[in-house]
Amino acid sequence: MTSAHTIGNRKDDHLRYAVDQHHHGFDGNDFDSVRFVHHALAGIDRADVDLTVKVAGMRWATPLYINGMTGGSRRAGTVNRELAIAAAETGLPIASGSMSAFLRDRSLADTYRVLRREHPHGFVMANVNANITPEEARRAVDLLEADALQIHLNAIQEIIMPEGDRHFSHWPRRIEHIAASVGVPVIVKEVGFGLSRETIALLRDLGVAVADVGGRGGTDFAAIENSRRPGAELSFLEGWGQSTVCCLLEAAQVRGIEVVASGGVRSALDVARALALGASAAGVAGKFLSIVIDDGVDALIATIRKWLDQLTSIMTVLGTSTPADLARCDLLVGGNVSAYCGLREIE
Ligand code: FNR
Repeated sequence: MTSAHTIGNRKDDHLRYAVDQHHHGFDGNDFDSVRFVHHALAGIDRADVDLTVKVAGMRWATPLYINGMTGGSRRAGTVNRELAIAAAETGLPIASGSMSAFLRDRSLADTYRVLRREHPHGFVMANVNANITPEEARRAVDLLEADALQIHLNAIQEIIMPEGDRHFSHWPRRIEHIAASVGVPVIVKEVGFGLSRETIALLRDLGVAVADVGGRGGTDFAAIENSRRPGAELSFLEGWGQSTVCCLLEAAQVRGIEVVASGGVRSALDVARALALGASAAGVAGKFLSIVIDDGVDALIATIRKWLDQLTSIMTVLGTSTPADLARCDLLVGGNVSAYCGLREIE
């Protein structure tokens, strides 16, 4: 069994290699293939824009959230504290990173609990893998007094790690049991390789409230895991999966489950694009991590405020007073995305 100490080292590696990836940027991801048609007389008054949304039946002050990243080591606890301070200052919901280390070793509880301590009235999500029992899921939720539970699907990451999981067939059953008993809405998320429409429809049938498509275009966990091991084949499975934009186009074909977007969201314009493609909200992980680690918590707060301000401006000129209205905007989708749509028969 992997020890909590080994998990702690892995968490620190993830922080380091993810920030390195974001130093190189993600120019040219599929969000660049999505353009709004400009209608010069469509604008509304800026004061009429309201950014609040409903996700999983609950009110979020913004359609932007900080996605699950870390916990389980001293360094991870410090990063969680800074992310939570930024979330509290700006009203963003925030998710914990995987709580496996806490479920193995209670002494690590504070590295996660800091999210609730710093964001006492905010929307906080616990985060677990799909191997755990409903009782363990409940412990994770209770530790954070969480409003929702994220379950991450990371088969690509696990299969690359020599010490990773090799058993995946029980995941759907586990998700169903957790969703039926944990007592808060369950959000199932990918970690950067995307959810297909078939997977999203299955999640709906398993009782999951929200699918976070977690698509390609930003942090690439195949590259991170390859970098962690000297001598590993550096390109194995890098670039695998569907982009966030392609996932959202697929998700629009699935009824009966709410969808949020993450993976490669780089700017307020990407948030607007994700909302226009049908997401209820957009999540950011690596980009916000790199800002908080490189430049500190005040820089992250300033960036989030700028994004919310720019999103309000974009919505003003598009004539959309609520984030949900963005889904009615005229969009042009080109590049690789239109080829993908042809192959997957998406109109
Ligand atoms: C992650 N991500 C992640 N997801 C999850 O559900 N549980 C986890 O423990 C982690 N750990 C983690 C660590 C680090 C350092 C990063 C950068 C990310 C994945 C994250 O939530 C998200 O799905 C992907 O990173 C894609 O989004 P970005 O980074 O492109 O915005």
